[in-house]
Amino acid sequence: MRTRPLKVALLGCGVVGSEVARIMTTHADDLAARIGAPVELAGVAVRRPDKVREGIAPELVTTDATALVERGDVDVVVEVIGGVEPARTLITTAFEHGASVVSANKALLAQDGAALHEAAGRHGQDLYYEAAVAGAIPLVRPLRESLAGDKINRVMGIVNGTTNFILDKMDTSGAGYSEALDEATALGYAEADPTADVEGFDAAAKAAILAGIAFHTRVRLDDVYREGMTEVTAADFASAKEMGCTIKLLAICERAADGGSVTARVHPAMIPLSHPLASVREAYNAVFVEAEAAGRLMFYGPGAGGSPTASAVLGDLVAVCRNKLNEANGPGESAYTQLPVSSMGEVVTRYHISLDVADKPGVLAQVATVFAEHGVSIDTVRQHGRQDGDGEASLVVVTHRAPDAALSGTVEALRKLDTVRGVASIMRVEGE
Ligand code: HSE
Repeated sequence: MRTRPLKVALLGCGVVGSEVARIMTTHADDLAARIGAPVELAGVAVRRPDKVREGIAPELVTTDATALVERGDVDVVVEVIGGVEPARTLITTAFEHGASVVSANKALLAQDGAALHEAAGRHGQDLYYEAAVAGAIPLVRPLRESLAGDKINRVMGIVNGTTNFILDKMDTSGAGYSEALDEATALGYAEADPTADVEGFDAAAKAAILAGIAFHTRVRLDDVYREGMTEVTAADFASAKEMGCTIKLLAICERAADGGSVTARVHPAMIPLSHPLASVREAYNAVFVEAEAAGRLMFYGPGAGGSPTASAVLGDLVAVCRNKLNEANGPGESAYTQLPVSSMGEVVTRYHISLDVADKPGVLAQVATVFAEHGVSIDTVRQHGRQDGDGEASLVVVTHRAPDAALSGTVEALRKLDTVRGVASIMRVEGE
């Protein structure tokens, strides 16, 4: 084994960074044996230098992240500060100064992954980011490497733990969205400002990364259709149950049937209770991959938190250090297919539409005609008369597969009917 250590600069020492530093220290011998050389912390860049950081020598702590990545003797930079800047500049500077990078930064990779890969390649360095998608779950490496010989047609997953916790709570307890969010906040799953999670931004960044890797094409955050889950109601769950389904916030990346384009989207959807993703409870993540030769694979585990995310970071650190010793590089960006990313209107799926309608003769026929005029075929219709004597009924229509644009046109036309008093909810049905 080489005795000269590989030097690691850590950018960020929050819940993930502190765990990375702790495991690097406590498992130093095992890591050295697995890599073939010891690894040592060369410096830790933080915002608040006065905070006590157990297990980290105070002389390693600095507020000058730029000076740390410019030192020139650092082999690997681990970036766990998040956000686009200054992370982007620091990572680019690290490559320029001969360091490979391990990052957990989904927002940056979803926005600027191509430019970062290009910079890494130009400087002969590695860019690894297993921790950016679904925490501890090995997913980026299996897609980039283990499945590199296969053709992936679909990636569908629960990639946000906060929203899965909230939806699971609504499902099991009958709670409304606000009540379930309050519980997620009290238990530390939801952040004080939960927007990135509940509005689907976090999942959309992960969808962009997964779609890019799975389909060997460039997919950016802006290409991902996104709907949050704040409008999901207890009534939606009751409706889902009647259909033998539950509701999950899904990230779905698909190759079009003709293979000529791809789509990436995040939205709440009903899935049958028999689907493996339906049994993913609490804050767990899971990703279902459909590949031509491999068939259906499911990756499951903790998608967030200090230790699980640190596990993914350390796995990358070992891989990148091995590459350094071998004077080799791991896989870079693979975007050779250059497939266009289609809009949401072209996505083909099934829909569950809940309408409040006048309870009188001919209404069902009127509604059915609107669906027919837009080329959307109805699978089932359920009507519940109301006991409150207001002359209204709830009509639930479940469709066969149709393009999203056709469904939007249908709903627009339904809203114009006098007999349709309101569109209570529209939910896509997946996983059948
Ligand atoms: N906030 C995310 C989640 C974890 O709830 O899954 C980090 O991406």
